[in-house]
Amino acid sequence: GNKIRNAKLVLLGDVGTGKSSLVLRFVKGQFVEFQESTIGAAFFSQTVAVNDETIKFEIWDTAGQERYHSLAPMYYRGAAAAVIVYDMTNAASFTRAKKWVQELQAQGSPNTIMALAGNKADLVEARQVSVEDAQTYAQENGLFFMETSAKTAINVNDIFYEIAKRLTRV
Ligand code: GTP
Ligand code: MG
Repeated sequence: GNKIRNAKLVLLGDVGTGKSSLVLRFVKGQFVEFQESTIGAAFFSQTVAVNDETIKFEIWDTAGQERYHSLAPMYYRGAAAAVIVYDMTNAASFTRAKKWVQELQAQGSPNTIMALAGNKADLVEARQVSVEDAQTYAQENGLFFMETSAKTAINVNDIFYEIAKRLTRV
């Protein structure tokens, strides 16, 4: 029979990197230019079929604003997966992403699958973070890495599907 697995997934990253937009694209197939900044956190769910299993993601889309930082542990604790998002047109957001990785490595659960998403990949002219730098960082820290665009949908389903695939192996 078809096995259903629930998987708590958290998105973390600086304000405005596109966490909510990635979730909206993945869950509803939509994109809006003027996405409102998240307050606290928002919850969504979406299923992905991998081989003979169904992964039901329980998604916590956290708020990037610094004043909500203290809430984050509630969302990443016990998470099966974490997507750390930066904006590839914003070097400071990549620095912030590394801080999230450090925090997860120190305070999170060791089994959490971590993905690094370099979002806004459609804005190629404005790139501030190279693929090489992000890829090297991800490899050194045990994350898998993809550049994504919530706007064009590039790699959005793919990153969630890759997480789902890895979850079926644990
Ligand atoms: P907080 O909730 O404040 O932490 O922000 P967030 O990370 O959820 O970012 P959000 O999804 O609200 O996106 C911020 C802005 O970036 C919005 O105006 C989006 O339309 C835009 N945006 C998000 N993803 C992309 C993308 O892939 N490409 C482009 N061009 N714009 C994007
Ligand atoms: Mg948001």
